[in-house]
Order: sequence, then C-alpha cells, then structure tokens
Amino acid sequence: MKIIVTGGAGFIGGNFVHYMVEKYPEDMIINLDALTYAGNLETLKPVENKPNYKFVKGDIADRDFIFRLFASEKPDVVVNFAAESHVDRSIECPDVFVRTNVLGTTTLLDACREYGIKRYHQVSTDEVYGDLPLDRPDLFFTEETPLHTSSPYSSSKASADLFVMAYHRTFKVPVSISRCSNNYGPYQFPEKLIPLMISRALSDGELPVYGNGANVRDWLHVYDHCQAIDLIIRKGADGCVYNIGGHNERTNLEVVKTILHTLDKPESLIKYVKDRPGHDMRYAIDPKKLETELGWEPVYNFETGIVQTIQWYLENREWWEHIVSGEYSQYFEKMYGDRL
Ligand code: NAD
Ligand code: DAU
Repeated sequence: MKIIVTGGAGFIGGNFVHYMVEKYPEDMIINLDALTYAGNLETLKPVENKPNYKFVKGDIADRDFIFRLFASEKPDVVVNFAAESHVDRSIECPDVFVRTNVLGTTTLLDACREYGIKRYHQVSTDEVYGDLPLDRPDLFFTEETPLHTSSPYSSSKASADLFVMAYHRTFKVPVSISRCSNNYGPYQFPEKLIPLMISRALSDGELPVYGNGANVRDWLHVYDHCQAIDLIIRKGADGCVYNIGGHNERTNLEVVKTILHTLDKPESLIKYVKDRPGHDMRYAIDPKKLETELGWEPVYNFETGIVQTIQWYLENREWWEHIVSGEYSQYFEKMYGDRL
C-alpha cells in the first residue's frame, strides 16, 4: 500500500509515521507537510533514511500541488493529520484555521475523487462535540453526540468532518473519521499543556494554569491513538466515525501536580492566570464502538504514560530546548506576558 500521511512532521502525525514505517516495511509512507511553526523534521530523524519513507514539503490547501502529487503518486490511502491544532491560536487568528482545516480537507477530498482512493481517513477531535458539565460524570461523548463546537479551532474541525461525510454520501468517496481525546507523549510541541508544564518546570518557571484548573481532559498516549488509526484504516467500516479515548479523565490541576511531583518540583511554581475565552469544561470519550467492533485496547494508562512522557522530555532536551528558545519565545511572551 502507498499511504500519504499529511501533517507527518507534527506531533501525532510524526508518531504515526514512526509507527507505520516500522510496522509495515512493505508499505510506502509519504509524509506531506507544509512545515509550519508546528512541523519539525527533527522528529523524523529516526526514519528519514528508511527505504519505505519519503518526505514531500507542501500545503494541503494548494490545489495544483495536491493534484500533481496525487497524479504522480497514486496513493491507496490518505490519512489527514495536517491542521492548525492549537485552540489558543485559533482565538487569536481564526482565518488560517479555516484555510488549512476546511479548505485543506476539501482539496484533499477533491483529489481523492479525481484520482480514486481505497480510503480517506480524517483525523478529527472530541472537541467537535463541545463540552460536558462537571456535575454529570455519567455523561460521555458517543459517535451519536451532536456536533456543538466552542472555539474557532473546533468549529473548523467539525466543518471538515461534515465535508468528509458529504463527499462520502454525494460522491461515494470511501472515508472514515476518528475523534480522539487529548493526546500526550513524545514530540509534542511545547505550546500544549503537558509539554508546556514539563518544560517550564524543568527551568523552574511559573506554570500558567487557566482559571481555577478544574477543567477536565481525557488523556490518551499518542501511541494508542496511532494504533487505533491503523486499525480503522485497515478494518474500519466505510463511512463510519470512531471515537478514541481510554477513560483517563484528570483535572488540569491534577495533571500539573503530577508533573511537578514526578520532577520533584514545588507546587509553588503554579500560577493561576486569566482563563481561556469559551473554555470547554470537560471532555470524556466513550470508546465502546472501537473496542467492540475493532478490538482496540490501549497499552498505556495515564500513570504509565505520563512517566514515560516525562522521561522522554528529560532524555530529549535538545529537541524541545531548540523550540522554546526560538520563534516560540515571542509567542509565549505575547500569550502569557501579561498573565504571569
Ligand atoms: P500539530 O500542530 O503538532 O501538527 C500539525 C502538522 O500539520 C504540522 O507538522 C504542520 O506543519 C502541518 N500543517 C499545518 N498546516 C498545513 C498545511 N496547510 N499543509 C500541510 N501541512 C500542514 O498537531 P497534532 O497535535 O499532531 O494534531 C494532528 C491532528 O490530530 C490534527 O488534525 C488535530 O486536529 C488532531 N487531534 C489532535 C489531538 C491532540 O491532542 N493534539 C487530539 C485529537 C485530534
Ligand atoms: O481534545 C482534543 C484536543 O486537545 C485537540 O483537538 C487539540 O488539537 C489539542 O490542542 C487539545 O486541545 P486542548 O485545548 O484541550 O489542549 P491544551 O493542551 O491547549 O489545553 C489542555 C487544558 O489545559 C485546557 O483545559 C486548557 C488548559 N491550559 C492550557 C495551556 C496551554 C492551561 O491551563 N494552561 C496553559 O498554558
């Protein structure tokens, strides 16, 4: 099989490329990435010389480029990770989220229509379901939960999901969609909660917790997300949505305190700061469909996964120190300068 993985220089796409290149030496993995601020070829160093791996730089919303690539490569499968992925950036500047997440998705779908494909897989998010109240721990997102978005980011992702389903129904493009909860693990860009807190704690900086830290996220190790997508593209039903999550709900404060305790740093580093506008309260995935229909089972729980992740950041300081000392430091100043 020839598989185009878009966004493979980012966090989850990069982990997926590693996973697929190692697991399927007979398949060809083409990593297509525009190398935005979030794309990093250092992440691909372990696979860059493998015979079943190739990198192509390009933009998923550039129609001429995408059509030329599909004409020459004739992929069997496309897995679309490429996106603007950070909620806070979407609040600052929504347009680029519409361009990449919506127009980029429809451009890929048009190329799939034109050149034929065995499966187009859209990597979506649990954020398309909106949020759940803190006082109803019995409620979970299922595949039937209505889309009800809060941020420009989640609205762009929900919009892309609707186009994927429309291309399936109207043009018979073979598709699947996965909606996963919050990921953590190696190679995550340090703007996101867990790597931000690990990197700040390691340099004894203040840890900015939004609001009172009571918001709940359902954490999944990126390796388990990659395994689930691999199962869905091979065995998942055409036209279906699958939720991915491992029942690892934690408040943000619990996550931050776990990181501090593991690194033997004081809780006095925590600083409560102005809340994110429109901040979703709780995400919680019901993964029953994926477990019963496809036999998916996560390898990590939060306790084992967070220790492995902290260890990775300790052993790979060069990877993230290079990021936090570069252009990212200006972003941090802009977003947190008057909060800390
Ligand atoms: P990321 O921001 O780390 O990586 C995104 C990648 O996409 C980068 O390599 C970037 O260069 C590339 N990219 C951006 N715009 C592009 C364009 N126009 N053309 C080609 N490449 C482009 O994101 P991530 O956290 O790895 O998320 C990957 C996907 O998974 C996203 O679609 C996101 O919505 C989804 N998702 C993320 C999480 C999470 O917790 N991070 C959870 C569920 C779903
Ligand atoms: O649920 C899946 C989604 O998870 C993905 O679709 C998104 O791409 C991904 O970014 C993530 O979104 P969140 O907004 O949940 O992740 P983030 O790491 O930005 O924040 C996690 C929680 O931590 C959230 O409640 C906000 C809070 N937070 C975040 C940052 C960056 C803080 O308290 N302080 C911070 O500095």
